[in-house]
Amino acid sequence: MIWAIVPAAGRGSRYGGDVPKQYLDIAGLPLIAYSLRAVLAHPSVGGAMVVLSEDDASWPGYTEIDGKPVRTCIGGAERCDSVLAGLAALPDDVRPDEFVLVHDAARPHLRASDLERLLDLGRGDPVGAILAAPVRDTLKRAGNDGGVDGTESRERLWRALTPQLFRRLQLTRALEAARNAGVVVTDESMAMERQGHRPLLVEGSDDNLKVTTPADLPLAEFLLRLARE
Ligand code: CTP
Ligand code: MG
Repeated sequence: MIWAIVPAAGRGSRYGGDVPKQYLDIAGLPLIAYSLRAVLAHPSVGGAMVVLSEDDASWPGYTEIDGKPVRTCIGGAERCDSVLAGLAALPDDVRPDEFVLVHDAARPHLRASDLERLLDLGRGDPVGAILAAPVRDTLKRAGNDGGVDGTESRERLWRALTPQLFRRLQLTRALEAARNAGVVVTDESMAMERQGHRPLLVEGSDDNLKVTTPADLPLAEFLLRLARE
């Protein structure tokens, strides 16, 4: 049975405000509720491990969603510390070679079809897979004076999304190696790549947005209301 680790221990510094972004209200529910529901909706996903910050005052206290267990543990200063805490806190019956999903708490609009494709293709890969979207805009390299120094090719460039799917022990080892080397990894795949692994890119939807700044919230709300209709 696959478990989903949902890191929610971030402070949301780019978003600002008193309540961390993952707990902001969207159409009557905290943002994280949508992220959890979306990963738990797949029949192969058996439960979710939510990683909270030590001084979390806003976690709604779910213990199950749609009949599946929701557990919590305490994370750390970097995302990598939080995901490692989640991996360590998984139930004992999650085997070392079993796949686990990692999905941002701040990513509420994950389409069921994207999750399905990730699981179908990723479980057939020896390493695992990530959802990603091809870069659509033209890319400019900025000079120190704010002028354009040049144009980068967007060919073969993808934006990494979540969920990301890896085996429990391999991911643990990769994140530990990154942490021990003092390298800040911004997603799980980056830690795996450092170990020489080549995760599969699975194309996901552009609208699987991570709420990062206040401008993202109305967009997320619009997408979620649309999906409910
Ligand atoms: N996260 C975490 N532990 C950390 C840092 C981040 O669990 N030490 C989680 C966040 O809660 C979020 C996800 O990782 O669900 C993606 O991170 P990001 O969007 O960067 O959120 P924050 O780190 O909270 O935001 P910011 O970088 O603006 O401070
Ligand atoms: Mg962050």
